[in-house]
Amino acid sequence: MSARGGGDEVPIAADADVVRVRQLVRARAQAAGLGLVDLTKVVTAASELARNTLVHGGGGTARVEAVAGTTAGGRPRSGVRAVFVDAGPGIPDVRAALQDGWSSGTGLGLGLSGARRLVDEFDLTSGVGSGTRVVVVKWGR
Ligand SMILES: Nc1ncnc2c1ncn2[C@@H]1O[C@H](COP(=O)(O)OP(=O)(O)OP(=O)(O)O)[C@@H](O)[C@H]1O
Ligand SMILES: [Mg+2]
Repeated sequence: MSARGGGDEVPIAADADVVRVRQLVRARAQAAGLGLVDLTKVVTAASELARNTLVHGGGGTARVEAVAGTTAGGRPRSGVRAVFVDAGPGIPDVRAALQDGWSSGTGLGLGLSGARRLVDEFDLTSGVGSGTRVVVVKWGR
């Protein structure tokens, strides 16, 4: 785990790394003041995304960092951002992959769609042959 720019970057190459990503996201979310429900949501989302990076992307990295922003009403808020990157095969049809129940393999196909619902901001970019990048943000209230 290396620290750069206030965040931590974790390689994702084995099951144990998925656990480390979960722990890291939990710690950052706690530090950002997220309540138990939001904390559990973002940890669950990160877990699914880390698993996708490992299983579908052939491994990659997760970067986890604290973020600061303001609400629509101008009140300061803090949160956690997690960025998952791999240089795997990419997703040919991102729209399909984001549907509930769509899996190219034997999975339930609920990982991406579930993760998207559990966070406040979700951005997926993928290119066939060039890999996949997913960014999620969860804010404290
Ligand atoms: N990082 C990735 N690289 C390549 N393909 C991916 C990646 N993440 C997701 N996908 C594709 O998107 C599909 C949907 O992902 P999702 O996580 O929803 O389902 P799943 O992983 O197949 O099953 P589940 O997560 O429910 O066990 C995957 O089956 C896979 O084809
Ligand atoms: Mg999945």
